[in-house]
Amino acid sequence: MNYLLKGLKQSGVALKSLLLAVVLIIGIGAYAQEPNIFPEPNSMRVGIEWITLSNDIVTSFKGFDDDKHLISQVKDAFKKVENTSADVLQVKFIRDKKVDNTQGYTLSIGKKGIVIKASTEVGLFYGVQTLVQYLDSYPKLSTEHRVKEVSIEDAPRFGYRSLMLDPARHFIPVEDVERYIDAMSFYKFNTLHFHLTDDHGWRIEIKKYPRLTEVGSKRDATHDDGILKGGFYTQEQLKDLVAYANERHVDLLPEIDIPGHGHALLTAYPEYACFPDTTLTAEIHEAYPHAEPICIGNPKFYEFYETIIQEMSTIFTCKEIHVGGDEVNKDAWSKCPKCQQLKSKEGLKKDDELMDHLFAEITKIAAKYDKKIIFWHEGGHHYPAGETVSLWRLGTAKEVIADCKKQNLQLICVPGEHAYFDYPQSMSDKEYLPAWIPVLTLKKTYEFDPGYGLSKEDGKFIRGVEATMWGESMKNMDRIFYMTYPRAFALADAGWTEMNNRSWEKFKEKLPHHLIILMKKGINFRPPIEL
Ligand code: ACM
Ligand code: ZN
Repeated sequence: MNYLLKGLKQSGVALKSLLLAVVLIIGIGAYAQEPNIFPEPNSMRVGIEWITLSNDIVTSFKGFDDDKHLISQVKDAFKKVENTSADVLQVKFIRDKKVDNTQGYTLSIGKKGIVIKASTEVGLFYGVQTLVQYLDSYPKLSTEHRVKEVSIEDAPRFGYRSLMLDPARHFIPVEDVERYIDAMSFYKFNTLHFHLTDDHGWRIEIKKYPRLTEVGSKRDATHDDGILKGGFYTQEQLKDLVAYANERHVDLLPEIDIPGHGHALLTAYPEYACFPDTTLTAEIHEAYPHAEPICIGNPKFYEFYETIIQEMSTIFTCKEIHVGGDEVNKDAWSKCPKCQQLKSKEGLKKDDELMDHLFAEITKIAAKYDKKIIFWHEGGHHYPAGETVSLWRLGTAKEVIADCKKQNLQLICVPGEHAYFDYPQSMSDKEYLPAWIPVLTLKKTYEFDPGYGLSKEDGKFIRGVEATMWGESMKNMDRIFYMTYPRAFALADAGWTEMNNRSWEKFKEKLPHHLIILMKKGINFRPPIEL
């Protein structure tokens, strides 16, 4: 995708729109008296009794270690109220094996106190996010904070709920990634797919191959404002980021995109191309279709790749690695003696099957380090059974679902028509983008059923949802947040809430309150002015 940069002015527009939004939404959502939780819980019974809360609470853990992060999150939710005749002082966190979904929890708020039960730390964390949002649904006056008694039993529809960031196109500083993780975890997303390599940049330090970052992390100066851009994450920084994410129950899923999207890699190590070109520089980074792919017939590439996986396995706790596999320009393979030799040795009929061979090999390599693989699904390819593919191309859901059933694959739903958050949210945002790029409205994201109408049993290979944020025009975090919210609220519901508990009308009513929450946290968003 080669749509660029003039549109970056839109970040400025976003800030002005934010002010407009304040005017539009204040007063609509600020004093609501209804529970207002994103994603919508799957079972919630609100009682009639009012509970008056105090800011002077006592927390206790039974079966869980004391968790400082949770305690401070809960304390903050009570913080602004000074009240002398409170009903509730006790907040209990209890491990309970009877909560059978590992991401599920129960939450009760009543005269006797607040109790969250879960069988895992993850469930407990989600119970706390719900508690914080529930308390925040009711007005916090300076003298009183009252909420209705409630009983919630909740668990996600899908186990995998992800957002993607692309620091390969525009580098994203660690602190910004942390802010992104903070926000997404509050809305119960549990995976940050981190697209660490592409034509435009290699962003992860690999100690054995320093040129990947010395050469591959620098982007040409001509694509933007004439200033040389670069940046990469050291292994130490990534380990810290993994720990930061894990504390918020977010998995950092790294992506190393091969065999296409590899211009940065081949600039650093041209020998892994079919036709090594030592004159490659970062200056052609806007090329599309993409530059040469990696040479699949070069046995040395597999050693190189294994080292990368081995070093990654010491950084990332995520059980999976995304290896890309999308948009590969395969012309070089048909002319390359090494690739053709491999093709006849393996008895392959078509050049396309070289990619299937690569997929099988890298899956075996990753398994040595206890990692499973995720691929961007491309039609006509054979993927190793039991692995996962991401559905992404516009209008291909039916074929991809059939392919998953045929090849025994797991599926993550990232369909362009509902979940490409780098697509504009309105015609007015489309001004600077190429004609083919569709508008993806908030409503269109909300309408997404990741189960595609299948029964639970028939659709059990569907693991969940993800939104992309391809970074060609994402110059800074303000812009990324602007493109993420409020559509991420809609995707959060799609990933968490059963279809019969979802309602566009209710979602619209709840929205202003959460926009105010974003404002208070200093997070940019696109005001949904057409609703
Ligand atoms: C993709 O959008 N190239 C997966
Ligand atoms: Zn080759």
